Amino acid sequence: MTRTIGTSDRSDASHPETIDWNAFWRDADQTDRESATPSTHHVQDLLSQFFDAKGVPESFASVGCGPGVVAFHVAGEHPETTVYGYDAARSIVAENREGATADGVANAHFEHAALPDLDLDRQFECVLCYGTLSYVEDSADALRALYDAVEPGGHLVLGYVNDGFRRHLQRIVDDPAGHGKDPDRFDLAEFERRWRLVLDGESTLTYDAIHDAVGTWPRSFWEVADHPEERWAWEDVPIVWLPK
Ligand SMILES: C[S@@+](CC[C@H](N)C(=O)[O-])C[C@H]1O[C@@H](n2cnc3c(N)ncnc32)[C@H](O)[C@@H]1O
Repeated sequence: MTRTIGTSDRSDASHPETIDWNAFWRDADQTDRESATPSTHHVQDLLSQFFDAKGVPESFASVGCGPGVVAFHVAGEHPETTVYGYDAARSIVAENREGATADGVANAHFEHAALPDLDLDRQFECVLCYGTLSYVEDSADALRALYDAVEPGGHLVLGYVNDGFRRHLQRIVDDPAGHGKDPDRFDLAEFERRWRLVLDGESTLTYDAIHDAVGTWPRSFWEVADHPEERWAWEDVPIVWLPK
């Protein structure tokens, strides 16, 4: 599919000049969906281990939930947990609501909310934000909003990209074919636009930056979960948790 970029207002996309997520989810085919749901492979199982270590939360929120892979999984595995999925794209929020109703998932709720403001009317025992901060310009404000959404005694689980990932993307931009991109199908301009905030270093994060924003040090997920054996970019795309 051809993705629409650059046409959305701020309430529907994290940054109007990167990717129009509202249009993306509205038009997404299966391949697009798989490409934009990293939590399917990288979070779902790890989160189960996190719950084993920290206890199953009574309330759970996934911010930037996309099609709600994790939200639906947590809701299904833990019927007593109240689950909320938030996303800036109204199209996917509507789709998830319909899915929850059709499948009778009574403990899963979906609402429109956009970082960096978020502005939720409640807090959660566990808040997850994965694969989303890359598209948010005001990282510090976004981190504070996410941390504010956590109940005292609860946890924030974050996936973010660091400068290693920025360098990885830059190498693709510099030599797409050398990184396996088919010259007939790879749209360099779209790629640069989608990843502009990362390529510019505006949405890359570090432990220090997270600490500076919220006043708590992030902790490695590998304190509480087994590092998956398959090689993946955990060094460039860290997953961390913060107690509150
Ligand atoms: C790459 S997808 C990740 C989806 C899901 N978290 C996962 O990992 O499977 C990024 C998601 O973030 C949402 N998003 C982008 N900018 C956002 C913002 N400023 N606030 C909330 N959600 C946002 C998009 O609509 C999209 O659903």
